[in-house]
Amino acid sequence: MKYYIVTYGCQMNVHESEKIAGILERLGYSEGTCREEADIIVFNTCAIREGAEDRVFGNVGNLKRLKKKNKNLIIAVCGCMTQKEQTAKKLMDTFPFLDIVIGTFNVPKLGYYIEQVKKGRQLELLEEGDIDEVLPYKRTSGENAWVNIMQGCNNFCTYCIVPYVKGREKSRNEENILKEIKEIISEGKYKKITLLGQNVNSYGHDLTPAIPFSKLLHDICALEGEFTLSFMTSHPKDLTDDVIDAIAKEDKIEKYIHLPAQSGSNRILKLMNRKYTREKYIEIINKIREKIPNCRITSDFIVGFPTESEEEFEETYSLVETVRYDSIFAFMYSPREGTVASKMEGQIEDEVKNERVNKLLSLEKKIQKEDNKR
Ligand code: SAH
Ligand code: SF4
Ligand code: F3S
Repeated sequence: MKYYIVTYGCQMNVHESEKIAGILERLGYSEGTCREEADIIVFNTCAIREGAEDRVFGNVGNLKRLKKKNKNLIIAVCGCMTQKEQTAKKLMDTFPFLDIVIGTFNVPKLGYYIEQVKKGRQLELLEEGDIDEVLPYKRTSGENAWVNIMQGCNNFCTYCIVPYVKGREKSRNEENILKEIKEIISEGKYKKITLLGQNVNSYGHDLTPAIPFSKLLHDICALEGEFTLSFMTSHPKDLTDDVIDAIAKEDKIEKYIHLPAQSGSNRILKLMNRKYTREKYIEIINKIREKIPNCRITSDFIVGFPTESEEEFEETYSLVETVRYDSIFAFMYSPREGTVASKMEGQIEDEVKNERVNKLLSLEKKIQKEDNKR
């Protein structure tokens, strides 16, 4: 029996798919090379932008022919997109051949749903799961091993769906993280460990006693073995000096920070509920550059947030010029149902968003070219 997994979205979702693969292998499935030879196809979805959801609808629709050929084929859709009740129901209604539609927190029960398919179609969306539950991962990222250190997000940036589909921030116990990393090191095939969380800088705030993220970093680096340590994503409002110092001091930590700015305009940052200003952001960047020479810095930007004027976009443009990132991701704002920003007046036309994204990306290219030359 073969499985085939299609993953959308962020690194955390890629890692989630490693969990799904682990579960399926325990059930006796092995990895297939394509959809055509699979006995079970799993779509692990993302809800961050509309485009990601549209692709899932298209790709799931295309499976109808496979289902016709193989009556026993099981098709499952899970992840952030299907954690939203309306979307999950719409998928079920649109595609009568879907067998399993479950949310982000149902994945540990995947074996149960597969068993139940014999009795009929499965649609279930659980609330928040147990982050410390240990499940076997089938690690798929070569020399890099992902390690989840927390789930969920408390920040409620006004454009973002993540807090709604991933629940509130919950940190894993440090003990369990260290145990997992020791096991990874002892396997001997991983050179890099990447810690994952939507906002890793607030790791440990919810534990008793609370643990600062920098302590976790130092404790991991103190483990014996040769490896590099990396982490994502950092939120500028929580990137404290002790974390910058840890990156500077610990040889094992990669000199790299992904620090999404989202916008260079203070009015837009406020509307986004990001809780820092342009000035504060630049101050952090300067601190990083001072303490960690040659640190690679990357960022995410959203253009065309509701009411963003041309001048405000220019402020984002000039922030990219000022910081001179190693690379950036630039996204056109995509309204997500249920978020505060989706209800704001002054939504921007796609044409304008497109123009602004292209301007930012050309600037990135220009900077990269100049820096490469240097
Ligand atoms: N937790 C991380 C990023 C999560 S999502 C952080 O806070 O930085 C990854 C990126 O997707 C975000 O940084 C943002 O730039 C983008 N994004 C999130 N919601 C979006 C939306 N509604 N439209 C367009 N881009 C979005
Ligand atoms: Fe979304 Fe903001 Fe949380 Fe990142 S910090 S996941 S952008 S709400
Ligand atoms: Fe990641 Fe997309 Fe979910 S970015 S957390 S898979 S909404």
